[in-house]
Amino acid sequence: MTMTSPRERPAPQPAEGTLHVRVWRGAADGTFQDFTLPRRASQTVLDVVTEIQRTQDPTLSYRFACRVGMCGSCAMVVNGRPRWTCRTRVAEALDGDALVLEPLRNMPVVKDLTVDMTPFFEKWRDAHGYFEPGAAPPEDFAVVRPDSPKRRAADAGVECINCGVCYSACDVVAWNKDYLGPAALNRAWTLVNDERDQGQAARLAAVSGDAGCHSCHSHMSCTEFCPKDLGPTFAIAGLKRATATAPGAPLSRLLARLVKP
Ligand code: SF4
Ligand code: SF4
Ligand code: FES
Repeated sequence: MTMTSPRERPAPQPAEGTLHVRVWRGAADGTFQDFTLPRRASQTVLDVVTEIQRTQDPTLSYRFACRVGMCGSCAMVVNGRPRWTCRTRVAEALDGDALVLEPLRNMPVVKDLTVDMTPFFEKWRDAHGYFEPGAAPPEDFAVVRPDSPKRRAADAGVECINCGVCYSACDVVAWNKDYLGPAALNRAWTLVNDERDQGQAARLAAVSGDAGCHSCHSHMSCTEFCPKDLGPTFAIAGLKRATATAPGAPLSRLLARLVKP
């Protein structure tokens, strides 16, 4: 019996035709470069990018880590649609026999298929997308019922892995670079529903400004493209309600005036 070293790569699947791939090269002022390579059974888009880099151009830049849909780092625009390339088979993304691969939109291009995600993560910070334990957090574990409405609302968005697909798909981010975007707002909504969190007033203030939840046009691209099947549009709708009815918000002041004896 022949032993195989765990470091040896398995042989590629045999070719079943030809793929024509256009790949973005360079930074924002770059251009497309054409590659031709074998079409293989069960090939993913990430397999294609990797084969180009290993066999045709080792200078091609792209990101990946897990290859199984856990890290979100392999996201790119494939034939016009943002998606995880490790979880996208060529067969489902092809347009004829062509693939067009671009970096995610709405973030600065570093090189080829890699983008600088700094603005994306800065917006998580700006939306207060982090847990606020307060000055004197309880020493014991909090008990949160799994079937409580708030826990369910938080559960609906908590599986986000920060891949940036929704951010790339959002037209409002494209028009308004300050808009916090679907991922940061989705995260803010999960925290608004975290009964242990002590930073709600500041968070609601942070997401209710000009670049916050009320700028969302609810056209659902984020929800349509999220590979985790999350619904940032619905999270943002929750934030719109929460910010409108928070103590001191214009709607709250109006309601208070209306019900005044
Ligand atoms: S629903 Fe809102 S956040 Fe989502 S893509 Fe549309 S405008 Fe952007
Ligand atoms: S909401 Fe979905 S698409 Fe957006 S960053 Fe999170 S996992 Fe990715
Ligand atoms: S490489 Fe991790 S999600 Fe694709």
